[in-house]
Amino acid sequence: MKIKKAVIPVAGKGTRFLPATKQIPKEMIPIINKPMIHYAVEEAILSGIEELVFVTSTGKTAIEDYFDRNLELENFLLKNGKEDYANLIKDIGTKIEIITVRQKEQLGLGHAINCAKHIIKDDAFAVILGDDLVLSEVPVTKQLMETSQANGGSSVIGVMEVPPSQTNKYGIIDGTLLKDSSKTYKMSKMIEKPEPEVAPTNLATPGRYILKQEIFEFLDKIPRGVGGEYQLTDAINMMAETNTVLAHVFDGDRFDTGSVNGYLNATVQFALRDPSLRETMLEICKRGIEEHG
Ligand code: UTP
Repeated sequence: MKIKKAVIPVAGKGTRFLPATKQIPKEMIPIINKPMIHYAVEEAILSGIEELVFVTSTGKTAIEDYFDRNLELENFLLKNGKEDYANLIKDIGTKIEIITVRQKEQLGLGHAINCAKHIIKDDAFAVILGDDLVLSEVPVTKQLMETSQANGGSSVIGVMEVPPSQTNKYGIIDGTLLKDSSKTYKMSKMIEKPEPEVAPTNLATPGRYILKQEIFEFLDKIPRGVGGEYQLTDAINMMAETNTVLAHVFDGDRFDTGSVNGYLNATVQFALRDPSLRETMLEICKRGIEEHG
């Protein structure tokens, strides 16, 4: 069955980006000239998603406004002969249906996803974390949708290989490769930040998921976990005890834009990959090395 909806949770406090996030939602901080969330929404659209559910919280209205139309600005741009810009901002506000639900208390990612339960009546849906950006030829959500469809519509977790010494920074999966596949595993469990000596694999789980409707049963059952929060990982682990959960190694480069270092890396890398900015960024880097290296 075609997956039409994606949940994008944006209710987190974004403490690693304070003081900016005192007033600006983390997801609205731009990488070059597009807010982070724009990339996640583009990925959803290019993957064929028709409806987005934003899980928001107090102080996040800028995100809703960003994806709405701004007729006053459109008219102003048109009047001043800036049709390209006018079309650009019109596009952002019209390309996809957006529904917002509130997470009234920030009780973790699992809790945030569960806030969308009454809207997701579909057999399966995608989850995209807006502070994990992936640059890839085929959008990563689409890659996971295709893996799900090729395997009877199972839940699929996006995974990427990380250096074995860094397993203690990520959720890591354990599992066995499916017959005739070099990239898709049957997941047995997910472990939060295992030390390299005990990590079962080096397959880490940045925020991309295809989840079957039944995840909500498990989200209802899990107790509070690490940090007193309802963890999506706990619900997926519980689901994997009785249901097929796959893990698929996606193609693409992932950037952790939820941390300041990752954000800086993404900004430089995105500029280097943009033909109109590449030379400028190389020049800045060269000068920086000469003066400070
Ligand atoms: P993070 O762990 O990055 O948390 O959440 P955060 O609050 O955004 O940032 P820090 O750690 O305080 O700096 C991963 C994703 O889950 C969402 C966040 O908005 C982010 O997209 N989230 C997290 C919620 O929607 N609700 C929550 O209760 C927790």
